[in-house]
Amino acid sequence: MDRKTTVRTLLVVLAGAWVGAGILVAAEQPALLGHHVDQQRIADGEMSLYEIRSAGLRLFTTPFNKLDGYGDGPMNPADPTSPGGRPTLQGNGTFLRVNGLDAQSCLECHSQISAATSPPTLGIGGVGGSNSNAIIMPTEMNPSGFPLVNGIADMNGRFANPPFVFGAGGVELLGLEMTEDLQRIRSRALANPGVVYELITKGVSFGSIVADGNGNLDLSNVQGVSDDLVIRPFGRKGEFNSLRAFDTAAVQFHLGMQPVEVVGEGVDDDGDGVTDEITVGDLSALGVFIATADRPAMASLTPSATRGFATFKSIGCADCHRPSLETESTVLPLRYPDVPDHPFDGVYYRIDLTRPPASFERNGSGGLIVPLFADLKRHDMGPGLAESFALADEKTNREFTTARLWGIADSAPYLHDGRATTLTEAILLHGGEAQTVRDAFAALDDAHRDEVLEFLRSLRMPRHPLQQLLRSLRRGGSNGGTALPGREAPSANPQRRSLGPDLGGGSQ
Ligand code: HEC
Ligand code: HEC
Repeated sequence: MDRKTTVRTLLVVLAGAWVGAGILVAAEQPALLGHHVDQQRIADGEMSLYEIRSAGLRLFTTPFNKLDGYGDGPMNPADPTSPGGRPTLQGNGTFLRVNGLDAQSCLECHSQISAATSPPTLGIGGVGGSNSNAIIMPTEMNPSGFPLVNGIADMNGRFANPPFVFGAGGVELLGLEMTEDLQRIRSRALANPGVVYELITKGVSFGSIVADGNGNLDLSNVQGVSDDLVIRPFGRKGEFNSLRAFDTAAVQFHLGMQPVEVVGEGVDDDGDGVTDEITVGDLSALGVFIATADRPAMASLTPSATRGFATFKSIGCADCHRPSLETESTVLPLRYPDVPDHPFDGVYYRIDLTRPPASFERNGSGGLIVPLFADLKRHDMGPGLAESFALADEKTNREFTTARLWGIADSAPYLHDGRATTLTEAILLHGGEAQTVRDAFAALDDAHRDEVLEFLRSLRMPRHPLQQLLRSLRRGGSNGGTALPGREAPSANPQRRSLGPDLGGGSQ
Protein backbone atom coordinates (compact mmCIF):
# COMPACT_ATOMS: atom_id res chain seq x y z
CA MET A 1 0.00 0.00 0.00
CA ASP A 2 1.42 3.34 -0.89
CA ARG A 3 1.17 6.25 1.45
CA LYS A 4 -1.78 7.80 -0.37
CA THR A 5 -3.80 4.60 -0.14
CA THR A 6 -3.00 4.25 3.53
CA VAL A 7 -4.26 7.73 4.21
CA ARG A 8 -7.37 7.09 2.14
CA THR A 9 -8.07 3.83 3.97
CA LEU A 10 -7.59 5.54 7.30
CA LEU A 11 -10.04 8.25 6.30
CA VAL A 12 -12.60 5.69 5.23
CA VAL A 13 -12.21 3.84 8.54
CA LEU A 14 -12.50 7.07 10.49
CA ALA A 15 -15.52 8.13 8.49
CA GLY A 16 -17.05 4.73 9.17
CA ALA A 17 -16.43 5.13 12.88
CA TRP A 18 -17.91 8.62 12.70
CA VAL A 19 -21.04 7.42 10.97
CA GLY A 20 -21.19 4.50 13.44
CA ALA A 21 -20.99 6.90 16.36
CA GLY A 22 -23.68 8.98 14.73
CA ILE A 23 -25.98 6.01 14.44
CA LEU A 24 -25.27 5.07 18.04
CA VAL A 25 -26.17 8.51 19.32
CA ALA A 26 -29.28 8.62 17.18
CA ALA A 27 -30.34 5.27 18.64
CA GLU A 28 -30.25 6.64 22.16
CA GLN A 29 -33.56 7.68 23.59
CA PRO A 30 -35.09 9.88 26.21
CA ALA A 31 -35.16 7.91 29.49
CA LEU A 32 -38.87 8.66 29.86
CA LEU A 33 -39.77 7.88 26.26
CA GLY A 34 -43.34 6.64 26.08
CA HIS A 35 -44.03 7.28 29.75
CA HIS A 36 -45.22 10.84 29.88
CA VAL A 37 -48.64 11.10 31.48
CA ASP A 38 -51.68 12.62 29.84
CA GLN A 39 -53.57 14.80 32.31
CA GLN A 40 -56.85 14.17 30.54
CA ARG A 41 -56.54 10.43 31.10
CA ILE A 42 -56.15 11.02 34.86
CA ALA A 43 -59.05 13.46 34.99
CA ASP A 44 -61.28 11.16 32.91
CA GLY A 45 -60.60 8.23 35.22
CA GLU A 46 -58.89 6.28 32.45
CA MET A 47 -55.87 5.51 34.59
CA SER A 48 -56.17 3.48 37.78
CA LEU A 49 -54.60 4.88 40.92
CA TYR A 50 -52.03 2.13 40.64
CA GLU A 51 -51.10 3.25 37.14
CA ILE A 52 -50.81 6.87 38.18
CA ARG A 53 -48.65 5.95 41.16
CA SER A 54 -46.42 3.76 38.99
CA ALA A 55 -45.98 6.61 36.54
CA GLY A 56 -45.16 8.93 39.44
CA LEU A 57 -42.64 6.46 40.80
CA ARG A 58 -40.99 6.38 37.39
CA LEU A 59 -40.84 10.17 37.23
CA PHE A 60 -39.33 10.29 40.73
CA THR A 61 -36.65 7.69 40.04
CA THR A 62 -35.73 8.02 36.36
CA PRO A 63 -32.35 9.63 35.67
CA PHE A 64 -33.28 12.07 32.92
CA ASN A 65 -30.89 12.66 30.03
CA LYS A 66 -30.55 15.52 27.60
CA LEU A 67 -32.94 13.89 25.15
CA ASP A 68 -35.59 14.23 27.87
CA GLY A 69 -34.68 17.89 28.15
CA TYR A 70 -32.36 17.57 31.13
CA GLY A 71 -30.46 20.82 31.63
CA ASP A 72 -30.96 24.44 30.80
CA GLY A 73 -29.62 24.71 27.28
CA PRO A 74 -27.56 27.78 26.40
CA MET A 75 -27.29 30.14 29.33
CA ASN A 76 -28.94 33.51 29.49
CA PRO A 77 -26.16 35.89 30.60
CA ALA A 78 -28.77 38.36 31.80
CA ASP A 79 -30.10 35.87 34.34
CA PRO A 80 -27.44 33.49 35.61
CA THR A 81 -29.32 32.26 38.73
CA SER A 82 -32.87 31.41 37.64
CA PRO A 83 -33.62 27.91 36.44
CA GLY A 84 -33.84 28.00 32.68
CA GLY A 85 -30.90 30.24 32.11
CA ARG A 86 -28.06 28.97 34.22
CA PRO A 87 -24.40 28.58 33.35
CA THR A 88 -22.64 25.26 33.96
CA LEU A 89 -19.53 24.79 36.06
CA GLN A 90 -16.42 25.43 33.97
CA GLY A 91 -18.70 25.28 30.93
CA ASN A 92 -19.13 21.50 31.24
CA GLY A 93 -22.55 21.90 29.63
CA THR A 94 -24.37 19.58 32.02
CA PHE A 95 -24.19 20.42 35.71
CA LEU A 96 -23.83 23.42 37.95
CA ARG A 97 -24.31 21.89 41.42
CA VAL A 98 -24.06 25.18 43.34
CA ASN A 99 -27.42 26.43 42.10
CA GLY A 100 -29.31 23.38 40.97
CA LEU A 101 -28.61 21.24 37.91
CA ASP A 102 -27.40 19.03 40.73
CA ALA A 103 -28.88 15.60 39.95
CA GLN A 104 -30.50 13.60 37.16
CA SER A 105 -33.29 12.22 39.36
CA CYS A 106 -35.24 13.01 42.49
CA LEU A 107 -34.04 9.74 43.99
CA GLU A 108 -30.42 10.88 44.03
CA CYS A 109 -31.22 13.07 47.04
CA HIS A 110 -34.32 11.41 48.53
CA SER A 111 -32.89 7.97 49.13
CA GLN A 112 -32.36 7.03 52.81
CA ILE A 113 -35.20 5.68 54.91
CA SER A 114 -33.06 5.18 57.96
CA ALA A 115 -29.81 6.84 58.83
CA ALA A 116 -30.04 5.12 62.22
CA THR A 117 -28.99 1.74 60.86
CA SER A 118 -25.50 0.77 59.75
CA PRO A 119 -25.28 0.73 56.82
CA PRO A 120 -28.07 3.27 56.34
CA THR A 121 -31.26 1.74 54.93
CA LEU A 122 -31.87 2.89 51.38
CA GLY A 123 -35.36 3.55 50.09
CA ILE A 124 -37.24 5.69 47.61
CA GLY A 125 -38.54 8.98 49.00
CA GLY A 126 -36.30 9.23 52.04
CA VAL A 127 -33.85 11.83 53.27
CA GLY A 128 -30.43 12.75 51.93
CA GLY A 129 -27.11 13.10 53.67
CA SER A 130 -25.29 16.40 53.61
CA ASN A 131 -23.67 15.70 50.25
CA SER A 132 -27.19 15.82 48.79
CA ASN A 133 -27.80 19.29 50.17
CA ALA A 134 -29.19 21.76 47.69
CA ILE A 135 -27.29 25.00 47.36
CA ILE A 136 -29.79 27.62 46.37
CA MET A 137 -29.05 30.77 44.38
CA PRO A 138 -25.70 31.94 45.71
CA THR A 139 -23.87 34.61 43.75
CA GLU A 140 -20.90 34.64 46.12
CA MET A 141 -19.13 31.93 48.09
CA ASN A 142 -15.85 32.01 49.93
CA PRO A 143 -14.99 28.46 50.96
CA SER A 144 -11.46 29.42 51.98
CA GLY A 145 -12.68 31.90 54.56
CA PHE A 146 -9.69 34.02 53.50
CA PRO A 147 -8.78 36.88 54.05
CA LEU A 148 -10.93 37.09 57.21
CA VAL A 149 -10.23 33.77 58.91
CA ASN A 150 -13.01 33.68 61.47
CA GLY A 151 -14.35 30.18 60.93
CA ILE A 152 -17.08 31.39 58.55
CA ALA A 153 -17.07 30.44 54.87
CA ASP A 154 -19.39 33.14 53.63
CA MET A 155 -22.16 32.27 51.17
CA ASN A 156 -25.09 34.45 50.17
CA GLY A 157 -27.35 31.61 49.01
CA ARG A 158 -29.31 28.96 50.91
CA PHE A 159 -28.07 25.52 51.95
CA ALA A 160 -30.78 22.92 52.50
CA ASN A 161 -30.76 19.27 53.51
CA PRO A 162 -33.29 16.99 51.76
CA PRO A 163 -36.20 15.93 54.00
CA PHE A 164 -38.23 12.80 53.24
CA VAL A 165 -41.46 13.07 51.27
CA PHE A 166 -43.53 10.58 53.30
CA GLY A 167 -46.89 11.54 54.78
CA ALA A 168 -47.11 14.57 52.51
CA GLY A 169 -50.70 13.87 51.43
CA GLY A 170 -51.98 14.41 54.97
CA VAL A 171 -49.83 17.49 55.33
CA GLU A 172 -51.14 19.00 52.10
CA LEU A 173 -54.75 18.37 53.13
CA LEU A 174 -54.16 20.06 56.50
CA GLY A 175 -52.67 23.04 54.69
CA LEU A 176 -55.63 23.34 52.30
CA GLU A 177 -58.17 23.26 55.11
CA MET A 178 -56.19 25.74 57.22
CA THR A 179 -55.88 28.09 54.23
CA GLU A 180 -59.63 27.84 53.64
CA ASP A 181 -60.27 28.74 57.31
CA LEU A 182 -57.93 31.73 57.17
CA GLN A 183 -59.44 32.97 53.90
CA ARG A 184 -62.89 32.74 55.48
CA ILE A 185 -61.74 34.76 58.48
CA ARG A 186 -60.25 37.29 56.07
CA SER A 187 -63.59 37.74 54.29
CA ARG A 188 -65.37 38.10 57.62
CA ALA A 189 -62.89 40.76 58.75
CA LEU A 190 -63.33 42.69 55.50
CA ALA A 191 -67.11 42.59 55.97
CA ASN A 192 -66.83 43.91 59.53
CA PRO A 193 -64.39 46.84 59.62
CA GLY A 194 -62.95 47.68 63.02
CA VAL A 195 -63.54 44.20 64.47
CA VAL A 196 -60.34 42.31 65.36
CA TYR A 197 -60.37 38.72 64.12
CA GLU A 198 -58.10 36.07 65.59
CA LEU A 199 -56.47 33.96 62.89
CA ILE A 200 -56.91 30.60 64.56
CA THR A 201 -57.24 27.38 62.61
CA LYS A 202 -56.95 23.84 63.97
CA GLY A 203 -55.92 25.34 67.29
CA VAL A 204 -52.90 27.12 65.80
CA SER A 205 -52.83 30.90 66.08
CA PHE A 206 -51.46 33.02 63.26
CA GLY A 207 -52.06 36.34 64.99
CA SER A 208 -54.97 38.61 64.11
CA ILE A 209 -56.29 40.98 61.47
CA VAL A 210 -58.55 43.97 61.36
CA ALA A 211 -60.01 45.87 58.39
CA ASP A 212 -60.53 49.59 58.02
CA GLY A 213 -63.62 51.01 56.36
CA ASN A 214 -61.95 51.19 52.92
CA GLY A 215 -61.39 47.51 52.34
CA ASN A 216 -57.80 47.54 53.64
CA LEU A 217 -56.57 44.92 56.07
CA ASP A 218 -54.13 45.68 58.84
CA LEU A 219 -51.75 42.72 58.61
CA SER A 220 -49.18 43.96 61.11
CA ASN A 221 -50.18 41.34 63.67
CA VAL A 222 -50.11 38.37 61.27
CA GLN A 223 -47.65 35.73 62.52
CA GLY A 224 -45.98 32.73 60.93
CA VAL A 225 -47.85 32.88 57.61
CA SER A 226 -47.53 35.14 54.57
CA ASP A 227 -49.78 38.17 54.19
CA ASP A 228 -51.95 36.31 51.66
CA LEU A 229 -52.92 33.95 54.55
CA VAL A 230 -52.03 30.87 52.52
CA ILE A 231 -50.51 28.02 54.55
CA ARG A 232 -47.37 26.73 52.86
CA PRO A 233 -46.22 23.50 54.50
CA PHE A 234 -43.56 22.46 52.01
CA GLY A 235 -39.92 23.44 51.88
CA ARG A 236 -38.01 24.11 55.05
CA LYS A 237 -38.82 27.80 54.78
CA GLY A 238 -42.54 27.09 54.34
CA GLU A 239 -42.66 28.43 50.78
CA PHE A 240 -44.90 26.01 48.89
CA ASN A 241 -48.63 25.42 49.39
CA SER A 242 -48.78 22.09 47.57
CA LEU A 243 -46.75 19.18 46.31
CA ARG A 244 -47.50 20.34 42.78
CA ALA A 245 -46.05 23.77 43.53
CA PHE A 246 -42.97 22.23 45.12
CA ASP A 247 -42.42 19.67 42.38
CA THR A 248 -42.83 22.32 39.68
CA ALA A 249 -39.91 24.16 41.22
CA ALA A 250 -37.92 20.97 41.90
CA VAL A 251 -37.93 19.66 38.31
CA GLN A 252 -36.69 23.02 37.05
CA PHE A 253 -34.15 23.71 39.78
CA HIS A 254 -32.54 20.28 40.11
CA LEU A 255 -33.00 18.84 36.66
CA GLY A 256 -33.48 21.78 34.32
CA MET A 257 -36.66 20.08 33.10
CA GLN A 258 -39.28 22.63 32.07
CA PRO A 259 -42.93 21.98 32.89
CA VAL A 260 -45.46 22.71 30.17
CA GLU A 261 -47.57 24.58 32.71
CA VAL A 262 -44.70 27.01 33.24
CA VAL A 263 -43.34 27.56 29.73
CA GLY A 264 -46.29 26.57 27.55
CA GLU A 265 -47.04 23.63 25.31
CA GLY A 266 -44.63 23.08 22.43
CA VAL A 267 -42.36 25.85 23.71
CA ASP A 268 -38.60 25.25 23.99
CA ASP A 269 -38.03 28.00 26.50
CA ASP A 270 -34.53 26.93 27.52
CA GLY A 271 -33.40 26.41 23.95
CA ASP A 272 -32.15 22.86 24.55
CA GLY A 273 -34.03 21.47 21.56
CA VAL A 274 -36.69 19.66 23.62
CA THR A 275 -40.28 20.77 24.21
CA ASP A 276 -42.92 19.44 26.63
CA GLU A 277 -40.20 18.19 28.98
CA ILE A 278 -42.59 17.70 31.91
CA THR A 279 -46.28 17.51 31.05
CA VAL A 280 -49.21 18.62 33.20
CA GLY A 281 -50.00 14.92 33.71
CA ASP A 282 -46.40 14.19 34.73
CA LEU A 283 -46.61 16.67 37.60
CA SER A 284 -49.99 15.23 38.61
CA ALA A 285 -48.57 11.71 38.69
CA LEU A 286 -45.54 12.85 40.68
CA GLY A 287 -47.86 14.53 43.18
CA VAL A 288 -50.13 11.49 43.46
CA PHE A 289 -47.12 9.22 43.95
CA ILE A 290 -45.79 11.36 46.81
CA ALA A 291 -49.20 12.03 48.38
CA THR A 292 -50.09 8.34 48.54
CA ALA A 293 -46.76 7.06 49.85
CA ASP A 294 -46.54 5.47 53.30
CA ARG A 295 -46.52 7.82 56.25
CA PRO A 296 -44.20 7.91 59.25
CA ALA A 297 -45.60 6.43 62.46
CA MET A 298 -44.93 6.25 66.16
CA ALA A 299 -43.60 2.95 67.51
CA SER A 300 -45.33 1.74 70.66
CA LEU A 301 -43.93 3.72 73.55
CA THR A 302 -41.92 2.17 76.39
CA PRO A 303 -42.74 3.50 79.87
CA SER A 304 -39.72 5.80 79.79
CA ALA A 305 -40.60 7.04 76.28
CA THR A 306 -44.12 7.74 77.59
CA ARG A 307 -42.60 9.84 80.37
CA GLY A 308 -40.41 11.53 77.74
CA PHE A 309 -43.52 12.40 75.70
CA ALA A 310 -45.06 13.97 78.81
CA THR A 311 -41.91 16.04 79.37
CA PHE A 312 -41.85 17.02 75.66
CA LYS A 313 -45.31 18.48 76.18
CA SER A 314 -44.77 20.00 79.63
CA ILE A 315 -41.62 21.95 78.72
CA GLY A 316 -43.28 23.43 75.62
CA CYS A 317 -41.87 21.46 72.66
CA ALA A 318 -45.44 20.59 71.65
CA ASP A 319 -46.36 24.30 71.40
CA CYS A 320 -44.76 24.20 67.95
CA HIS A 321 -44.29 20.49 67.40
CA ARG A 322 -48.05 19.71 67.77
CA PRO A 323 -48.26 15.94 68.14
CA SER A 324 -51.16 15.80 65.69
CA LEU A 325 -53.49 18.02 63.73
CA GLU A 326 -56.81 16.77 62.41
CA THR A 327 -58.49 17.25 59.07
CA GLU A 328 -62.19 17.63 58.38
CA SER A 329 -62.08 15.35 55.38
CA THR A 330 -60.35 12.08 54.58
CA VAL A 331 -59.93 12.97 50.93
CA LEU A 332 -57.14 14.97 49.37
CA PRO A 333 -58.41 16.82 46.29
CA LEU A 334 -55.83 17.42 43.57
CA ARG A 335 -56.26 20.70 41.76
CA TYR A 336 -55.15 22.04 38.43
CA PRO A 337 -54.49 24.84 38.06
CA ASP A 338 -53.48 25.12 41.68
CA VAL A 339 -54.69 28.49 42.98
CA PRO A 340 -53.15 28.96 46.44
CA ASP A 341 -55.85 31.18 47.99
CA HIS A 342 -58.71 29.12 46.51
CA PRO A 343 -57.53 25.79 47.88
CA PHE A 344 -60.49 23.68 46.75
CA ASP A 345 -60.91 25.03 43.20
CA GLY A 346 -60.01 23.10 40.06
CA VAL A 347 -60.28 19.60 41.51
CA TYR A 348 -59.55 16.88 38.95
CA TYR A 349 -58.82 13.88 41.18
CA ARG A 350 -59.43 12.74 44.75
CA ILE A 351 -57.33 10.51 46.93
CA ASP A 352 -58.70 8.72 49.98
CA LEU A 353 -55.90 9.04 52.49
CA THR A 354 -57.26 6.36 54.81
CA ARG A 355 -56.38 3.74 52.20
CA PRO A 356 -53.02 1.97 52.21
CA PRO A 357 -50.23 2.67 52.07
CA ALA A 358 -50.77 6.22 53.42
CA SER A 359 -53.29 4.69 55.87
CA PHE A 360 -54.03 7.76 57.94
CA GLU A 361 -56.23 7.04 60.96
CA ARG A 362 -59.75 8.42 61.08
CA ASN A 363 -60.58 10.84 63.90
CA GLY A 364 -64.20 9.84 64.52
CA SER A 365 -65.67 13.04 63.09
CA GLY A 366 -65.16 12.48 59.41
CA GLY A 367 -61.52 13.48 59.18
CA LEU A 368 -58.00 12.22 59.72
CA ILE A 369 -55.42 12.34 62.46
CA VAL A 370 -52.13 13.56 61.01
CA PRO A 371 -49.45 12.80 63.63
CA LEU A 372 -46.91 15.22 62.18
CA PHE A 373 -45.48 16.93 65.30
CA ALA A 374 -45.69 20.37 63.74
CA ASP A 375 -48.02 23.36 63.39
CA LEU A 376 -47.46 24.33 59.73
CA LYS A 377 -46.34 27.72 60.98
CA ARG A 378 -43.10 29.63 60.42
CA HIS A 379 -41.06 30.63 63.46
CA ASP A 380 -38.15 32.96 64.10
CA MET A 381 -35.43 30.56 65.20
CA GLY A 382 -32.93 33.22 66.19
CA PRO A 383 -29.58 34.43 64.83
CA GLY A 384 -27.76 31.12 65.34
CA LEU A 385 -29.83 29.27 62.75
CA ALA A 386 -30.41 32.28 60.48
CA GLU A 387 -29.44 32.00 56.84
CA SER A 388 -27.45 34.67 54.96
CA PHE A 389 -29.49 34.50 51.77
CA ALA A 390 -28.98 37.77 49.91
CA LEU A 391 -32.37 37.65 48.17
CA ALA A 392 -34.33 37.43 51.45
CA ASP A 393 -34.71 39.94 54.25
CA GLU A 394 -33.38 39.39 57.74
CA LYS A 395 -36.75 38.28 59.12
CA THR A 396 -37.21 35.64 56.43
CA ASN A 397 -33.65 34.43 56.92
CA ARG A 398 -34.43 33.67 60.56
CA GLU A 399 -37.72 31.90 59.87
CA PHE A 400 -38.32 28.21 59.28
CA THR A 401 -41.49 26.21 59.21
CA THR A 402 -41.69 23.93 62.23
CA ALA A 403 -39.90 20.73 61.30
CA ARG A 404 -42.26 17.76 61.35
CA LEU A 405 -40.76 15.38 63.87
CA TRP A 406 -42.52 12.24 62.66
CA GLY A 407 -39.76 9.99 61.36
CA ILE A 408 -37.10 11.85 63.33
CA ALA A 409 -35.59 8.59 64.65
CA ASP A 410 -34.37 7.79 61.15
CA SER A 411 -33.88 11.13 59.44
CA ALA A 412 -30.49 12.45 60.59
CA PRO A 413 -28.79 14.80 59.88
CA TYR A 414 -31.11 17.43 61.41
CA LEU A 415 -32.12 21.06 60.98
CA HIS A 416 -32.56 22.90 57.70
CA ASP A 417 -29.00 22.43 56.51
CA GLY A 418 -28.26 19.18 58.29
CA ARG A 419 -25.82 20.81 60.70
CA ALA A 420 -27.00 18.75 63.68
CA THR A 421 -25.69 15.20 63.62
CA THR A 422 -27.56 14.24 66.81
CA LEU A 423 -30.98 15.02 68.25
CA THR A 424 -29.43 16.74 71.26
CA GLU A 425 -27.48 19.12 69.04
CA ALA A 426 -30.63 19.84 67.01
CA ILE A 427 -32.57 20.75 70.16
CA LEU A 428 -29.80 22.82 71.74
CA LEU A 429 -29.40 24.83 68.52
CA HIS A 430 -33.00 26.14 68.83
CA GLY A 431 -33.11 29.89 69.51
CA GLY A 432 -35.43 32.81 68.88
CA GLU A 433 -39.05 31.92 69.63
CA ALA A 434 -37.88 28.51 70.91
CA GLN A 435 -35.19 29.87 73.23
CA THR A 436 -37.07 29.42 76.53
CA VAL A 437 -38.25 25.94 75.63
CA ARG A 438 -34.73 25.01 74.52
CA ASP A 439 -33.40 26.30 77.85
CA ALA A 440 -35.98 24.22 79.68
CA PHE A 441 -34.70 21.15 77.84
CA ALA A 442 -31.10 22.09 78.63
CA ALA A 443 -32.04 22.40 82.31
CA LEU A 444 -33.49 18.87 82.52
CA ASP A 445 -31.46 16.33 84.45
CA ASP A 446 -29.88 13.53 82.44
CA ALA A 447 -32.63 11.04 83.17
CA HIS A 448 -35.41 13.33 81.94
CA ARG A 449 -33.43 14.36 78.86
CA ASP A 450 -32.80 10.73 78.00
CA GLU A 451 -36.51 10.04 78.26
CA VAL A 452 -37.29 12.86 75.80
CA LEU A 453 -34.68 11.48 73.41
CA GLU A 454 -36.05 7.97 73.80
CA PHE A 455 -39.48 9.31 72.96
CA LEU A 456 -38.13 11.06 69.85
CA ARG A 457 -36.46 7.82 68.78
CA SER A 458 -39.87 6.17 68.68
CA LEU A 459 -40.95 8.45 65.80
CA ARG A 460 -40.07 6.27 62.84
CA MET A 461 -39.94 6.69 59.09
CA PRO A 462 -41.86 3.99 57.18
CA ARG A 463 -39.83 0.78 57.36
CA HIS A 464 -40.70 -0.61 53.95
CA PRO A 465 -42.19 2.24 51.96
CA LEU A 466 -43.89 1.60 48.62
CA GLN A 467 -43.39 -2.11 49.01
CA GLN A 468 -46.57 -3.22 47.35
CA LEU A 469 -46.07 -0.88 44.43
CA LEU A 470 -42.49 -1.99 43.93
CA ARG A 471 -43.38 -5.64 44.31
CA SER A 472 -46.13 -5.53 41.75
CA LEU A 473 -43.97 -3.54 39.36
CA ARG A 474 -41.27 -6.14 39.75
CA ARG A 475 -43.72 -8.94 39.20
CA GLY A 476 -45.15 -7.27 36.12
CA GLY A 477 -41.75 -6.18 34.93
CA SER A 478 -39.83 -9.30 34.11
CA ASN A 479 -38.18 -7.44 31.24
CA GLY A 480 -35.83 -5.50 33.47
CA GLY A 481 -36.52 -1.87 34.17
CA THR A 482 -39.52 -1.57 31.92
CA ALA A 483 -42.37 -2.61 34.14
CA LEU A 484 -44.86 -0.36 32.55
CA PRO A 485 -47.92 1.29 33.92
CA GLY A 486 -50.80 0.21 31.80
CA ARG A 487 -49.12 -2.94 30.52
CA GLU A 488 -49.78 -5.08 33.53
CA ALA A 489 -52.34 -7.75 33.92
CA PRO A 490 -54.78 -6.79 36.68
CA SER A 491 -53.92 -10.06 38.42
CA ALA A 492 -50.38 -8.82 38.98
CA ASN A 493 -51.77 -5.77 40.61
CA PRO A 494 -52.65 -6.11 44.29
CA GLN A 495 -52.54 -2.34 44.76
CA ARG A 496 -55.49 -1.83 42.48
CA ARG A 497 -57.47 -4.46 44.33
CA SER A 498 -56.65 -3.18 47.79
CA LEU A 499 -57.38 0.42 46.90
CA GLY A 500 -60.74 -0.29 45.40
CA PRO A 501 -62.23 0.78 42.11
CA ASP A 502 -63.77 3.97 43.53
CA LEU A 503 -60.30 5.49 43.70
CA GLY A 504 -59.29 4.55 40.21
CA GLY A 505 -61.74 6.85 38.54
CA GLY A 506 -60.84 9.93 40.43
CA SER A 507 -62.60 12.51 38.33
CA GLN A 508 -65.23 14.55 40.06
C1 HEC B 1 -30.00 17.87 45.03
C2 HEC B 1 -30.89 17.19 45.93
C3 HEC B 1 -32.35 17.09 45.62
C4 HEC B 1 -32.95 16.60 44.49
C5 HEC B 1 -32.30 16.08 43.23
C6 HEC B 1 -34.37 16.66 44.74
N1 HEC B 1 -34.62 17.17 45.98
FE1 HEC B 1 -36.43 17.35 46.85
N2 HEC B 1 -35.60 18.35 48.38
C7 HEC B 1 -34.25 18.64 48.49
C8 HEC B 1 -34.07 19.63 49.52
C9 HEC B 1 -32.75 20.24 49.94
C10 HEC B 1 -35.34 19.94 50.02
C11 HEC B 1 -35.68 21.01 51.04
C12 HEC B 1 -35.83 22.28 50.22
C13 HEC B 1 -36.12 23.53 50.99
O1 HEC B 1 -36.13 23.52 52.19
O2 HEC B 1 -36.36 24.57 50.36
C14 HEC B 1 -36.27 19.09 49.30
C15 HEC B 1 -37.64 19.05 49.55
C16 HEC B 1 -38.54 18.33 48.79
C17 HEC B 1 -39.96 18.28 49.04
C18 HEC B 1 -40.69 18.97 50.18
C19 HEC B 1 -40.70 18.10 51.37
C20 HEC B 1 -41.26 18.80 52.58
O3 HEC B 1 -41.77 18.09 53.44
O4 HEC B 1 -41.18 20.03 52.70
C21 HEC B 1 -40.52 17.54 48.04
C22 HEC B 1 -41.99 17.21 47.86
C23 HEC B 1 -39.46 17.15 47.16
N3 HEC B 1 -38.26 17.62 47.66
C24 HEC B 1 -39.64 16.46 45.98
C25 HEC B 1 -38.63 16.32 45.05
C26 HEC B 1 -38.87 15.87 43.69
C27 HEC B 1 -40.21 15.52 43.10
C28 HEC B 1 -37.65 15.83 43.08
C29 HEC B 1 -37.34 15.48 41.65
C30 HEC B 1 -37.97 16.30 40.65
C31 HEC B 1 -36.67 16.26 44.06
N4 HEC B 1 -37.30 16.56 45.23
C32 HEC B 1 -35.32 16.30 43.81
C33 HEC B 1 -33.24 18.08 47.76
C34 HEC B 1 -33.41 17.47 46.54
C1 HEC C 1 -40.97 28.01 68.57
C2 HEC C 1 -41.27 26.74 67.95
C3 HEC C 1 -40.44 25.54 68.37
C4 HEC C 1 -40.31 25.01 69.63
C5 HEC C 1 -40.89 25.53 70.93
C6 HEC C 1 -39.49 23.84 69.49
N1 HEC C 1 -39.15 23.66 68.18
FE1 HEC C 1 -38.06 22.13 67.42
N2 HEC C 1 -38.04 23.05 65.62
C7 HEC C 1 -38.70 24.20 65.30
C8 HEC C 1 -38.33 24.60 63.97
C9 HEC C 1 -38.85 25.81 63.22
C10 HEC C 1 -37.41 23.65 63.51
C11 HEC C 1 -36.66 23.67 62.17
C12 HEC C 1 -35.37 24.45 62.34
C13 HEC C 1 -34.43 24.30 61.17
O1 HEC C 1 -34.78 23.65 60.21
O2 HEC C 1 -33.32 24.85 61.22
C14 HEC C 1 -37.27 22.68 64.58
C15 HEC C 1 -36.48 21.55 64.48
C16 HEC C 1 -36.41 20.56 65.44
C17 HEC C 1 -35.69 19.31 65.31
C18 HEC C 1 -34.94 18.87 64.06
C19 HEC C 1 -35.92 18.30 63.08
C20 HEC C 1 -35.35 17.92 61.75
O3 HEC C 1 -36.03 17.15 61.05
O4 HEC C 1 -34.28 18.38 61.36
C21 HEC C 1 -35.86 18.61 66.47
C22 HEC C 1 -35.32 17.25 66.80
C23 HEC C 1 -36.67 19.43 67.33
N3 HEC C 1 -37.00 20.60 66.68
C24 HEC C 1 -37.06 19.07 68.61
C25 HEC C 1 -37.60 19.97 69.50
C26 HEC C 1 -37.76 19.69 70.91
C27 HEC C 1 -37.40 18.39 71.59
C28 HEC C 1 -38.30 20.81 71.46
C29 HEC C 1 -38.54 21.07 72.91
C30 HEC C 1 -37.35 21.10 73.74
C31 HEC C 1 -38.52 21.77 70.38
N4 HEC C 1 -38.07 21.23 69.23
C32 HEC C 1 -39.12 23.02 70.54
C33 HEC C 1 -39.58 24.89 66.10
C34 HEC C 1 -39.69 24.69 67.46
